[in-house]
Amino acid sequence: MLSSRARRLYWSPIEIVSKKLKRLKSIKVDFASGAPDPELIPLNEIRESTLRVLEDPGSLSYPGTGGLAELRRELVHLLSNLGVSVHGREVIVTSGAQNALHIIADLFLDEEDYLLVENPTFIEAFIAFNHYTNNYYTINVGLDGSRTTPSKNTLVQVKLLYTMPELHNPTGTVMDYDYRKRIIEWARDYDLIVVEDDPYRPLVPDPREPLVNMDKNQRVLYVTSLSKVVAPGLRIGLILAPREYSEKIEQAQQLDFSLNTLSMHIVLDLLKKKVISKIASKARREYMNRIKTLLDLLEDHMPGEVEWSRPRGGFYVFINTRVDMDKLLGKALSMGIAYVPGKYFYIENREAYKGTARLSISRVREQDIEYGVKVLAKLIRDYS
Ligand SMILES: Cc1ncc(COP(=O)(O)O)c(C=O)c1O
Repeated sequence: MLSSRARRLYWSPIEIVSKKLKRLKSIKVDFASGAPDPELIPLNEIRESTLRVLEDPGSLSYPGTGGLAELRRELVHLLSNLGVSVHGREVIVTSGAQNALHIIADLFLDEEDYLLVENPTFIEAFIAFNHYTNNYYTINVGLDGSRTTPSKNTLVQVKLLYTMPELHNPTGTVMDYDYRKRIIEWARDYDLIVVEDDPYRPLVPDPREPLVNMDKNQRVLYVTSLSKVVAPGLRIGLILAPREYSEKIEQAQQLDFSLNTLSMHIVLDLLKKKVISKIASKARREYMNRIKTLLDLLEDHMPGEVEWSRPRGGFYVFINTRVDMDKLLGKALSMGIAYVPGKYFYIENREAYKGTARLSISRVREQDIEYGVKVLAKLIRDYS
């Protein structure tokens, strides 16, 4: 009875690992989570904002489409402060970045269309795109952030390119300026829609120029989220879209009216009280320290053949070992260590990447990173 789209749905590895973790009580070091540290969620401020906005019953009314006008204006400021140019584009509030990606997939992809996607990629985005088309080509991303170049023949066929130039998930790498320029040229020359997914920008001190700033032809749809710096449960994200598409995006929001009015009012209040910029700088410092600690400890403890990416911030370091990290997960969990096997972030040649894993520091305190790395290093050595 299911549609062909429904038959292509599958569980993301992140969901599988997080379901497993919920059942396990004894995880000491959670290198698996992509959620922010609960200690960095501004709980008191959110509580105060909630009480304030609830004084007006309007905070519980229907959301309409596009998001509250005042929130959209505040988000324009937030983007400008992050160095993202909003010129000639509209901010449309979404229920997190995931909802933004789903709306974009729905609006742009027919069954016969081709997608161009990084390999590895944020697999949950791929699941959303794959819901609409099963045709895709890949760009391989290395541990140093280098990327392969698609052929002319590929570019001619592709309609939509999905990319994470800044702190790519799962590798934590950054795309170089030249490759960014080439993407913009491809978009112009081959008439591509480019989806730039950028939720980690607030977590690096010196992010590079986003694709959207370089785009003079209105080909880039910029997506971001407040999940990583405020709280994922509030479900507030956005699309910064060329005017040409913004109305269609709002029309798509009529399909479910899933924006949460209360969340929008809370986030608006937090923005007006400057809570978000304060928490973002604190979070940036904290996560950068943890990433540095993790990188130093990998250097100290991992066997010589293990390689890893070297991010300057964000949540993730991607490692490449000679053991099957998917098979090793059960053993690691039994010793209190969780991570996400990297092969599931690949959409092609998964078995070739069974030695990879994504390690996230977002929910691991500095003092626990050492224990986690030592246990993992010993397991990797024992099973090599
Ligand atoms: C690259 C990327 N895009 C989108 C998302 C989804 O974010 P949200 O919670 O806003 O839906 C995530 C979350 O892990 C992510 O890493």
